[in-house]
Amino acid sequence: MDESLGELADRFSQIADRYNEKHGSGENPIYNAYASLVVEHADPRPDDVVLDLGTGTGLIALALAEDAGRVVGRDISDGMIEQARSKAAEAGIENVEFGYGEFRDPRYDGDVDTGSSETPRTDTRDARVDIVVSNFALHHLPDEEKREAIEAIADLNPKRFVLGDAMFFGSSEPDEPLFGHGVDGATVGMLVDVLTDVGFAVTAVERVHDQVGVLVAERRDAERAYDSPEDRQHR
Ligand SMILES: C[S@@+](CC[C@H](N)C(=O)[O-])C[C@H]1O[C@@H](n2cnc3c(N)ncnc32)[C@H](O)[C@@H]1O
Repeated sequence: MDESLGELADRFSQIADRYNEKHGSGENPIYNAYASLVVEHADPRPDDVVLDLGTGTGLIALALAEDAGRVVGRDISDGMIEQARSKAAEAGIENVEFGYGEFRDPRYDGDVDTGSSETPRTDTRDARVDIVVSNFALHHLPDEEKREAIEAIADLNPKRFVLGDAMFFGSSEPDEPLFGHGVDGATVGMLVDVLTDVGFAVTAVERVHDQVGVLVAERRDAERAYDSPEDRQHR
């Protein structure tokens, strides 16, 4: 990627007030399809803490807040974070908080963020995170950094990670690219390999389009054993 993190953050801040019209209005069928699948697969319980990485204006975070105990949104763009905070306040949603955080350093330590993007969040190891979600954001990282991001997510030890994004089910150089410059999708195979390497079992692969999908990864270890939505319904 030839754009710095700061430049990318500024670019999103400039479009933050228009982002919802394009993505949250229900008029973008592909976006709706994978965003809905991310929410559906995240499936939080009332006591779960959910971390939404690349939360943007909080479309996914706010959708999950009704069912989750608490939702924490992290993003690099102050403008997007401001929109997310305004929407939460307008809707009277109190169990969400939004703040600065990067995929490879989410700056979540379990405390509620007071609002400043300068607030240091350096130690994420002791924070409790049950479910990590990320929708249409990981593609901003080149593949090697995607790997580092997934390693950082695994370090948080969530029971589940749900990733919706541009991803290639077929050729990584399609004849008719769905997305333009700035969307650096990975192959599904690469993402599944990395998720498996860091200790997740990939339990669902949803193909929305040949270049878009949703992956559900669950911890393989005993403490975070897989508990499918069907299992939970029958308990
Ligand atoms: C296309 S928006 C998606 C927002 C939201 N998840 C949604 O589904 O509507 C991508 C977001 O990822 C954020 N982003 C890009 N690179 C990031 C990084 N390295 N760490 C955290 N957020 C990042 C951008 O600032 C932007 O808000």
